[in-house]
Amino acid sequence: MNHSETRIRTLVFSPAIRIFHWLRALTILVLVITGFYIAWPFLVAPESTDVLVQGWIRFAHLICGFVLTAVTLARFYLYFFSRSDIERRSFRDVMSVKSWITQLKSYIWMGHLHKAGVYGPLQFVTYVAISFVALVICITGLVLYANVYHEGLGGMLWSSAAWITAQMGGLAQVRIWHHYLTWAFVIFVVIHVYMAVWSGIRFKHNSVDSIVSGYDYPKPDSHH
Ligand code: HEM
Repeated sequence: MNHSETRIRTLVFSPAIRIFHWLRALTILVLVITGFYIAWPFLVAPESTDVLVQGWIRFAHLICGFVLTAVTLARFYLYFFSRSDIERRSFRDVMSVKSWITQLKSYIWMGHLHKAGVYGPLQFVTYVAISFVALVICITGLVLYANVYHEGLGGMLWSSAAWITAQMGGLAQVRIWHHYLTWAFVIFVVIHVYMAVWSGIRFKHNSVDSIVSGYDYPKPDSHH
């Protein structure tokens, strides 16, 4: 092997970040499919008394919904308090015009990326945006939940849920926003998967692999 091909193994993503990533991927996939089914329940004829199909699909939606809510909160916490500052460091690039230009140029095959942290500025801003979309879809989901289950957790959430419903202009609006925001995930996932694969090839780095194994293998002199 040529000496310039020597690469150093570096830990990029902690186990918690990797586990949460794949939990989010799985729950979002299930939520989008079951959510669209809830909106358009096409499997059972209207005159049928078979209500179990809808029941199980709603059940899956709720379980995944609660898992996603927990992961969303944990992930906001980890961004600020994780022992590794690789994500927080990316914020420096967001504040630097030079970093934006470098990233956008590298996307049209001009030059390489020089990142302070693990994400480029456009990537970072996109992830922040989708995290807030996740927060809003979880909140609207919990409001819908509290309107069906009046005891236990639903009961505890009731007064906040009623307040949010009023702010949003009624329950129909809560539902429609919950539905619209589903499309943000559909669009995000397509671009996200494409960019993950593409940037791995473009920059000869571990990209998809490192969110599985945690490791990247940069060249000793590269700045990633
Ligand atoms: C990525 C996350 C999510 C997506 C994509 C999603 C998607 C959807 C969609 C498309 C609907 C149908 C809305 C309609 O009737 O037009 C729905 C309904 C619903 N979602 Fe979600 N949702 C998500 C997260 C959550 C969360 C976190 C919860 C709460 C724990 C939740 C609870 C509900 C409830 C209670 C309903 C109404 C069910 C019914 O009317 O029977 N969702 N969701």
